[in-house]
Amino acid sequence: MTSLSLNARPLPTPPAPPAQPQPSLRPAVLSDVAGMENLMAPFVTSGDLLPRSNYDLCRHIKEYVVAEGQDGAIVGTASLKIYSTELAEVAGLAVRDDQQGRGVGKALVQSLLVDARAVGLKVVFGLTRKPLFFIRLGFQVVEKEQFPLKVWADCARCPRQHACDEVAVALTL
Ligand SMILES: CC(C)(COP(=O)(O)OP(=O)(O)OC[C@H]1O[C@@H](n2cnc3c(N)ncnc32)[C@H](O)[C@@H]1OP(=O)(O)O)[C@@H](O)C(=O)NCCC(=O)NCCS
Repeated sequence: MTSLSLNARPLPTPPAPPAQPQPSLRPAVLSDVAGMENLMAPFVTSGDLLPRSNYDLCRHIKEYVVAEGQDGAIVGTASLKIYSTELAEVAGLAVRDDQQGRGVGKALVQSLLVDARAVGLKVVFGLTRKPLFFIRLGFQVVEKEQFPLKVWADCARCPRQHACDEVAVALTL
């Protein structure tokens, strides 16, 4: 009697599918604004990002870094808003749904931290509903009240200002 199990050989492992190329990071330019608006729109709807007007993005374009996919689409963005000689905020951070979990968000924030150190900032903070993402990057949870300029500038016009679910995180450089 032949035994199939004795003669069976392990099947060869199928080759892994080719890795999807990583988006490339670069400073944003004005022709990215439409793509940045498209990228941010669903996260504004979900409440993860504050809305930004086209005018605001154009005025502050030099604060932004973008991640560009192979097809030229903007798949990630983040900005560094400077408040003083010491303090800046990571803001407008978003990675397109289908590109999340690939290190794009981390690369965007790390590139802003390089810029922050280069200009001599001492502390970078964020207001976020995703504190664990920032903690992975070395940030610590802090009291929101220690950032009064931010509170005046953005929180005052936020629709959720009386039911805020954002956590403040900060990194000393
Ligand atoms: C938050 C966001 C930017 C993360 O971007 P991403 O490209 O998916 O994150 P990365 O792949 O670079 O993850 C980096 C690390 O953070 C972790 N991480 C990512 N998102 C996380 C989350 N929501 N909660 C906990 N950890 C998270 C990853 O596991 C990874 O950990 P590791 O370095 O130990 O492997 C992205 O999910 C996003 O755009 N969300 C919607 C908009 C938003 O919430 N923006 C933040 C506003 S402040």
